[in-house]
This record gives sequence, C-alpha cells and structure tokens, in this order.
Amino acid sequence: MSEAPNGTPIKTPGQLIAAVIAAFAVPITIIILLAYYVDNTTRTGAGTDELAPDAVAQRIAPIAQVTIRDANAPHVYKTGEQVFQAVCSACHATGVAGAPKFGNSGDWAPRIAQGYDTLWHTALSGKGAMPPRGGTSPDDYSDYEIGLAVAYMANHGGANFPDPPKPAANAANAAEAAPGAAAAAAGSAPGAAAAVATPASIAQTATAPAAGATSTAPSIATASADTAQAGKVLYQKVCQACHAAGLLGAPKFGSKADWAPRLKDPMDTIYNYALNGKGQMPARGGSGASDAEVKAAVDYMVSAAK
Ligand code: HEC
Ligand code: HEC
Repeated sequence: MSEAPNGTPIKTPGQLIAAVIAAFAVPITIIILLAYYVDNTTRTGAGTDELAPDAVAQRIAPIAQVTIRDANAPHVYKTGEQVFQAVCSACHATGVAGAPKFGNSGDWAPRIAQGYDTLWHTALSGKGAMPPRGGTSPDDYSDYEIGLAVAYMANHGGANFPDPPKPAANAANAAEAAPGAAAAAAGSAPGAAAAVATPASIAQTATAPAAGATSTAPSIATASADTAQAGKVLYQKVCQACHAAGLLGAPKFGSKADWAPRLKDPMDTIYNYALNGKGQMPARGGSGASDAEVKAAVDYMVSAAK
C-alpha cells in the first residue's frame, strides 16, 4: 500500500477491506434491486387478477354453457367440424355401435352412394342406433348445422358434397333478420354474393353485421354475468317454444291458474321436473343448459306467475 501513488483514496488495510466489500456489495445490491424491479412490473400481487371483471365473469359463468342463440339476431352458425367435434364424434370418431367411422372411406362409400339429401335426412331423423340429430335438439343445432356436420363427415369419408344452403332467416322474424342473414350468406360465399350485389346491397351487407353484433352482444354478455338475466334469456330461447302458448299442455307463461297447482310443490320438485323432464316436458326443455340456467329459467317463469 505504501507504494500506492499519491491521491489514491485507499491508504490503509481497513479501507482496502471496505473497498473490496463495496466492490461486491454494490453491484449485487443493484442486481437485486433490478431483478426486483423487473419482476415487480409483471407481478400484480398474488391473486389480484382474480378480481378482474373478466376473471370474475369467467369464474361465475355456468359450467355447461348453452350457446344461446338470439332469435332476433343473425345466427352465428357452428361449422360442420365444430358440430362433429361437439356431438357426432362421440360415436363416429371410433365407429361406436356400428356408426360409419370418421375418415374411413370403406365405411362411408355405401352411405355416400345414397346421396347427400338422404344422409342429411337420416341424420335429422335417426336410423337404428343413430339417434335423431345425434341426440341433440333443434335448439342446440339447426337442421343446417347438422347438415354441415353430415357434409363434413361424408367429405372426410371420400365424398365431395357442397355445404347445404344457408337458411335465409327464421320464418318468425324473417323481416328483422333478413338483412343480417343476407349479410352472413354474403360473408360465407363472397364470390357468389358479391358478384351480383348492387352498390345498395353492398352498403346493406356492410352495415348489417354491425347491427346484428350489437343486438347479440348484450344478451350473451349478461347471460354469463347475471343469473336472473340468464334465466330470462334461456326462457326466451328455449322454454317459451312451449310455455308461451301452453303447447302440449305446458303451464302457460304468466298464467296464475296454470301455475298455482304446480306451485304447491316445493321449488326443488319443480326444479327437478324442469331438469329431468315430466310428461311431455323434455329434460331441460331439450336444451343443453346448465342446472343453474334451467333453475334461473324456472325462477323467471314462476315469478311471472305469482
Ligand atoms: C350415439 C351415437 C351416434 C351419434 C352421437 C351420432 N351418430 Fe350418426 N350414426 C350412428 C350409427 C350407429 C349409425 C349407423 C346407423 C345405421 O346404419 O343403422 C350412424 C349413421 C350416420 C349417418 C349415415 C346414415 C345413413 O343413411 O347411412 C350419418 C349421415 C350420420 N350418422 C350423421 C351423424 C351426425 C351429423 C351426427 C352429429 C350431429 C351423428 N351422426 C351423431 C351413431 C351416432
Ligand atoms: C317441448 C315443449 C316444452 C319446452 C321446450 C319446455 N317445456 Fe316445460 N313443460 C312442458 C309441458 C308439456 C309441461 C307440463 C308437464 C306435465 O305436467 O306433465 C311443462 C312443465 C314445466 C314446469 C312445471 C313442472 C311442474 O309440474 O311443476 C316447469 C317448471 C317447466 N316446464 C320448466 C321449463 C323450462 C325451465 C324450460 C326451458 C329450459 C321448459 N320448461 C321448456 C313443455 C315444455
């Protein structure tokens, strides 16, 4: 140390030790602070995300969610592949119960020979161990969507069927839904529709999806966020098919006389009828709605009849 040039701050062994320690401690402290800083920016604290609106909505969403279709909005149709995956693959993927196996042209050739329309019809009405619509109800999948699934399966078995024609619109709300449906059709067959479209109809197809989107969005958003609302939505989409007019002897919506005798049962019994069916009343109204949604729909119907 005594040889150190003048002006060196380190003059004693003590200062040397301090300097050596500092030489280690300072960079390490900086690294620790940096690491903490970097980590801290990505870490919002354990569990904080859980209270984010999206996360909450996701958590309280019913487990088995029906895809509720707004009758007044242009339908967002499932593709053939989606329907196949969700429904038909249960049997057709492996060929359960003698079902023609997916992708097996040997299984499919004789079926394909019957023609697309026959296959579509069979898929809708059932045949042997093949349940009508693969066991779904028209509320779950429209004829059109079943038809898409038929084309999807048959085409993977060696056929070359075009997709079935898209339904124009629901008869009941044809007037309202028509522009949207036309737009949807234009979207799925851009070449065909656009080629013949006049400027006016192009403008229409451009605006209609936006209108459709605004009318669907709220009902879907609220369905998962708010049980009471989900009950009303399910009622409107499924249950009112029978309960609005009292079809098949269903207790009519809002009719105290129809409901009073049934409301003598405890609510749990009434829920059970709705969940498991009763007489002509199909289980869950024939939908795939969750327990919570069906109960909410019952609550909605019952409160309207009190
Ligand atoms: C529960 C099992 C099961 C499910 C689910 C199922 N299928 Fe099938 N499917 C069968 C069986 C079994 C056959 C053979 C019936 C026969 O030929 O007797 C079959 C046959 C078919 C055929 C050929 C009919 C013919 O005329 O040869 C088509 C088309 C078909 N299914 C479509 C579908 C579609 C579309 C779905 C989904 C929406 C579906 N299946 C869901 C069991 C099922
Ligand atoms: C296909 C027609 C149909 C649909 C769709 C339908 N129901 Fe029903 N519902 C009936 C009929 C018919 C009855 C009367 C059954 C009986 O008493 O034998 C009934 C009865 C009921 C009852 C009274 C049961 C009792 O006696 O206490 C409830 C609650 C009910 N339905 C709820 C629902 C709900 C919720 C939905 C929708 C998710 C729905 N229903 C969809 C036909 C239907």
